[in-house]
Amino acid sequence: MTRMALALTLALLAAQAMPSPALAQQAADGERLFRTRCGTCHSIEPGQNRVGPSLAGVLGRAAGTLEGARYSPALRESGIVWSSETIDAYLADPRQLVPGTTMTVGLRAPAERAAVIAYLDGRSTTH
Ligand code: HEC
Repeated sequence: MTRMALALTLALLAAQAMPSPALAQQAADGERLFRTRCGTCHSIEPGQNRVGPSLAGVLGRAAGTLEGARYSPALRESGIVWSSETIDAYLADPRQLVPGTTMTVGLRAPAERAAVIAYLDGRSTTH
């Protein structure tokens, strides 16, 4: 193999091994946003309920059902199952989706919601 071909092969291998910059950036943003915007009230560790319930494994969970967490009747009776779509709607305007919910802060920017949800998804599923 010529030196040139070898260099090219190595460059291609390196490019494949690296996640796309956009995805890596979104993951980093998601973690930072979670820490600064959700972390005072929520933990990502299982069983750690703060003011808000632990968000470990929240995707796929029925709203208001985590054992040991404190919920408003409104959320418990909402019938919501958390998915990327329902969490997005909740964060966009919590009281619009669940009138009477005690979580009143959200995330206004769609890109920030997407980043936080991607972060939650990465930590709560095995794929
Ligand atoms: C000021 C405290 C506070 C902050 C900040 C906060 N939350 Fe919450 N969150 C709560 C409370 C309290 C509840 C329970 C609401 C209820 O029972 O009506 C909740 C509930 C939730 C639920 C439903 C969980 C379940 O088990 O049904 C999700 C999802 C959620 N929060 C996501 C987030 C995300 C993502 C952020 C950051 C963008 C965030 N929250 C920021 C207090 C907070």
